[in-house]
Formats: sequence, C-alpha cells, structure tokens
Amino acid sequence: MSSQIDNRAIKKALNKVNNSAKSNRSLKKRSEDYQVFQDVFNKPTLLTLYSLFNNGTLSYLNGIVNSGKESNIFWGVTPDGNDVAIKIYLTVASEFRKRLQYIEGDHRFKNINTHGHKLIELWARKEFKNLSKAYSANLPVPKPIAVKQNVLVMDFLGIDGAPYPTLSETEVEESDFEELLKLIKQLYQQSNLIHSDLSEYNVFKNSNDLILFDFGSAVDVSHPMSKDFLLRDIINICKFFSKRGITTLDAENIFKEITENDV
Ligand SMILES: Nc1ncnc2c1ncn2[C@@H]1O[C@H](COP(=O)(O)OP(=O)(O)OP(=O)(O)O)[C@@H](O)[C@H]1O
Ligand SMILES: [Mg+2]
Repeated sequence: MSSQIDNRAIKKALNKVNNSAKSNRSLKKRSEDYQVFQDVFNKPTLLTLYSLFNNGTLSYLNGIVNSGKESNIFWGVTPDGNDVAIKIYLTVASEFRKRLQYIEGDHRFKNINTHGHKLIELWARKEFKNLSKAYSANLPVPKPIAVKQNVLVMDFLGIDGAPYPTLSETEVEESDFEELLKLIKQLYQQSNLIHSDLSEYNVFKNSNDLILFDFGSAVDVSHPMSKDFLLRDIINICKFFSKRGITTLDAENIFKEITENDV
C-alpha cells in the first residue's frame, strides 16, 4: 500500500527534515498542508515514531483517522498484525496550557516540569496512566500499549481503520444512558477516576456496548476539583440524552448516588 509509512519511510523523512533545515532555513512559502505535516511530523516526533518501529511496537502506520486541535490519531499496525490507534499530541498546540488545572492538583503529578514540550509529554503520559488504571479495573476503554514522548499507542476501536461511531454519531436508547451512568460510577468507585471531559464525543458505541475514551483530562478522586468535574460530566451526559428525547434523572441525585459511600 503506497500510503503506508514504515520505518524506512520515517528514516527518509528524517533525512529530509535534516536536509531542508540545513539547506533552506529561510523557506518562507509553505503550503498549508505542508505546514500541517510539519506540525505533526516534526523531527522529535519522527524520532519517537522511529524508535517505536525499531522496538517492535509498530510495524507501519496507515492513514490518519482524525485530526483535532491537540492531537492527530492514526491507524497503525503492530508486528503481530493487530490494529492500533496512534495518538500523536501536537507539540505546537497551545491548548495544553489552558488545561493545566487537570494536572496541577493531581497528587500523581506532583513536582514535575510543566513547561514547553515537557507539558505535552506529560499529557500523553497522563492519558496512558489513566487508561491503564481504568483498563486494569476492567472498564471498557482502549487497551493502552505504549507511550513515548508525545505519542500514545492503544488498541484500535473500530473496523478496517474506521472507528466505531461515537454516541453523537449514532442512535441512542434509554439503556445507553443507564449503562453510561454505571460506567461513570465504576470509574469513580473502582478506578478512583473522573473522566472530566465526558460527552457524546468521547464515548464509542459498538452494537450495544459503550466504550469510554479520550482520558487526557481524567483526574484522581483526590484532585481538589474532582467533584466539580464529576458533576459537570453527569450534567453533560444528561443534557445530551434529554436532547435526544430520553427521560433522564436529576444530575444532582445521580451525583449523590455515585459519591454516597465517600468517607
Ligand atoms: N482507540 C481508538 N481507536 C479508534 N479510533 C480512535 C481511538 N481513539 C480516538 N479515535 C478517533 O479519534 C477521534 C479523536 O480522539 P480523541 O477524542 O481521543 O482526541 P482529541 O484530541 O480529543 O480530539 P478532538 O479534539 O477531535 O476531540 C475519535 O473521535 C475517534 O474517531
Ligand atoms: Mg475527544
């Protein structure tokens, strides 16, 4: 497949980056596409991908699945032939600064450098850690596979490079609302986590199963604002289901029910 990127292609791209930096430091006119490519596949990111190819995590990269403000998601394949999602956090995104509140205050991330590139790497590590915690408590989340610098590798949730639809993209029923509340409660009680960015855009639906993803913002229950984030998640979910014509419960009551065993 000509669009596949393997370690030889990465090596070539690295050479190109090096050469163009050397020979044309003042290249002014860049097409928008080229700029986007540069933003994602900058030299540190190419080096990171290269090492993931070389250490046997990845065999090749297929197409892009989604490009967001903070990350791009690619469909990749492991040497065993398993599909993976590769989330490449954009090292140029300024969005991360705004989201410092989800890191500061989480005791798991005390005393760490939150400047520049380090902040993006921290964000990738945080998502990996959160996924690992939820996954090991048997919650339906993508299985985390590896994290290196700004690149996170996890199980691909979908078929042939097409992700499962999110709740925003598919039909929903009352049973989905109930299931989602159960998952929020399990996440809280079994993993000590609050998603903190929960919405119809961050939940996949595959047949009747729901899968939570996008865990970069998730915080430990000990975070000083964790209760605010929990209530906000519940309100978001209630709003979405009632917009879809489903009778929901009162957000405050759901919140009380989830936190009633807190000491
Ligand atoms: N594990 C996965 N398997 C398959 N597709 C995925 C996976 N994770 C993310 N995606 C795809 O990438 C999209 C964005 O993922 P995610 O929400 O984690 O990133 P984001 O940085 O929050 O992006 P956005 O700004 O678009 O919300 C998802 O809606 C989905 O289409
Ligand atoms: Mg998202």
